[in-house]
Amino acid sequence: MPMSPLMKPVNLPAGKLLINGQWRDSVSGKQFATVNPANAEEICQIAEADAADVDLAVQAARDAFEIGPWRKMAATERSKLLNRLAALMEKNLEELAVLEALDNGKPYFTAKAVDVPLAIACFRYFAGWADKIQGRTIPINGNYFCYTRHEPVGVVGQIIPWNFPLLMLAWKLAPALATGNTIVMKPAEQTPLTALRVAELITEAGFPDGVVNMLPGFGPTAGAAIASHMDIDKVAFTGSTAVGRLVMQAAAQSNLKRVSLELGGKSPNIVFADADMDAAIEGSHFALFFNQGQSCCAGSRTFVDEKVYDEFVERSVARAKKRRVGDPFSPRTEQGPLIDSDQFEKVLAYVEAGKREGARLAAGGSRRDEPGFFMEPTVFADVTDTMTIAQEEIFGPVMSIIKFSSLDEVVQRANRTMYGLAAAVWTRDIGKAHAIANGVRAGTVWVNCYNVLDAAAPFGGFKQSGNGRELGEYGLEQYTEVKTVTVKL
Ligand code: NAI
Ligand code: MG
Repeated sequence: MPMSPLMKPVNLPAGKLLINGQWRDSVSGKQFATVNPANAEEICQIAEADAADVDLAVQAARDAFEIGPWRKMAATERSKLLNRLAALMEKNLEELAVLEALDNGKPYFTAKAVDVPLAIACFRYFAGWADKIQGRTIPINGNYFCYTRHEPVGVVGQIIPWNFPLLMLAWKLAPALATGNTIVMKPAEQTPLTALRVAELITEAGFPDGVVNMLPGFGPTAGAAIASHMDIDKVAFTGSTAVGRLVMQAAAQSNLKRVSLELGGKSPNIVFADADMDAAIEGSHFALFFNQGQSCCAGSRTFVDEKVYDEFVERSVARAKKRRVGDPFSPRTEQGPLIDSDQFEKVLAYVEAGKREGARLAAGGSRRDEPGFFMEPTVFADVTDTMTIAQEEIFGPVMSIIKFSSLDEVVQRANRTMYGLAAAVWTRDIGKAHAIANGVRAGTVWVNCYNVLDAAAPFGGFKQSGNGRELGEYGLEQYTEVKTVTVKL
C-alpha cells in the first residue's frame, strides 16, 4: 500500500457493513475501492451496500427501536454511552485523524486539531442533552391535564458527504442517538474509513445491536434505497442541492418521511474599507481555502469595498501564492489534494468558465504535475455577479473577488443567489456589522471571523441551502416528534 512516508501506520477497519451489531459482506458480495486522493491509488476494498442490505439494516433498526433494550433504556444511560463513545474516539484520536487524512486528502494536522476534536465535542454536547429532553404542561380550556412528550422519530436514515466525513457523521449521529432514535447511515463512497472505525467504537462502547447500522455504498443505489424506504421515518442528508432534491422527491413518493437537508452554498464574505485589513485578508483566505475549498459554507463570493479593492486583491494573491500545497501528512502542508478526479474536473471547468467569461486569473488555475488531485490555489479578480464562478458552487480552491461600493448595494447583491447558508462581514463599524447580519438571508453570519462552528450553535440554510437546523438545542427538533397527551380530570 504506497502511502506518504510521513504517515503513521494504522490498521485499516475491516471493509464490511455493520448490520444488527454484526460485520458482514454485502448481500450482492460486491465491493468497491476507496482511493487515496494524494496518489490516486486504492487504499482497500469495502463491502458495497445496496437496496437488499438497506432492507436488512432497516429491519435491524426497526427491531432495535421497537423491541430492543434501547427504547426502555434510561436517558442517563444513553448519555453515558455517548460519552463512552467520545472517550473511545479521544483515545483513538490520532488513528482517526490518520484515516481521515488518508481517505479524504485533508491535512493530517488539521484533521487532528479540528475534525476529530470537533466530532468528539459534538458527541459530548449531545450526551449532555439526552436526559434534558422534556415537553411542557399546557393549560388548555376545560378540566383537563394536557402535556407534551418529545419522543424519538424512530428509524432514521442518514446520508453524509465526503468533505468532513467524521464531523458530518457526528452532527448526524449524536443528536439522533441522544434523542433515542435508531439509525441506518450511509457514509460517502469516497470516504468510508472513519465511519467504519467509529462503527467499531460504537460496538465497543456497548450500544445495543441494531441501534447504529453502517452501510458504505453509492448514492443512486444504497442512498436512493434509504431515501425511498417505506419503513424509514426520517432522512437527514448533507450534500449537493441536486441530490437533496432527489432525496425530497423520494420521500414524497414513498412514505412522506421527514426530510432535513444541508445543501450547498455560495456564501458572501463582505470586506469593508474600515476593516482590520490584515485580519480581513487572512480571514477571507481561510474562508475560501479551508479544506481545499471543499466546504459547504466556503466564503466563495469575496465582496470587497472599491476603496480597498486593489490592495485587497494584490495581498490576497500574494497570500494564495504562498499557500503550501502537498503531502497531507507533512506538518508544513496547508492544502492537500481534492477528493477525486470528478471533483477535480468540475473545478477545472469552472476555472475555464471564469477565464472565458472575462474574469482576471491572478493566481494559480492549474493542476499540479503530480499523480494525486492537487490543484493550485487560484484567485480570480474583476469577477462580476452574473459570471458562472459567482453563481455556482465550485467546491474547490478558487477565490472570486468582486467589487462593491455601498452597503445597501452589497446586501442586495449578496442575496441575489438561490443559496443562503452562510455569510460574513469584516468591519470595525458596529452599525455596518449589524446591517449585514440582519440584511443577509443566510443561516449563519460571522462578524470579523469565519468558519467558527460549535456543537452548541445551530447551523443550516435559508433558501435552497436546505431546511432544518443541525446542532444546538434547535438540532434536537430534527430528531423528535411532539406528542400531546390530554387527560380528563
Ligand atoms: P452528492 O450530493 O452526490 O453526495 C453526497 C452524498 O449523497 C453521498 O453520500 C452520496 O453517495 C449520496 N448520494 C448521491 N446520489 C444520491 C441519491 N440519488 N440518493 C441518495 N443519496 C445520494 O455530492 P457529490 O457528487 O459528492 O459532490 C457534488 C457537489 O455537491 C460538490 O461539488 C459540491 O458542490 C456539493 N457538495 C456539497 C456538500 C455540502 O457539504 N453541502 C458536500 C459534498 C458535496
Ligand atoms: Mg455524486
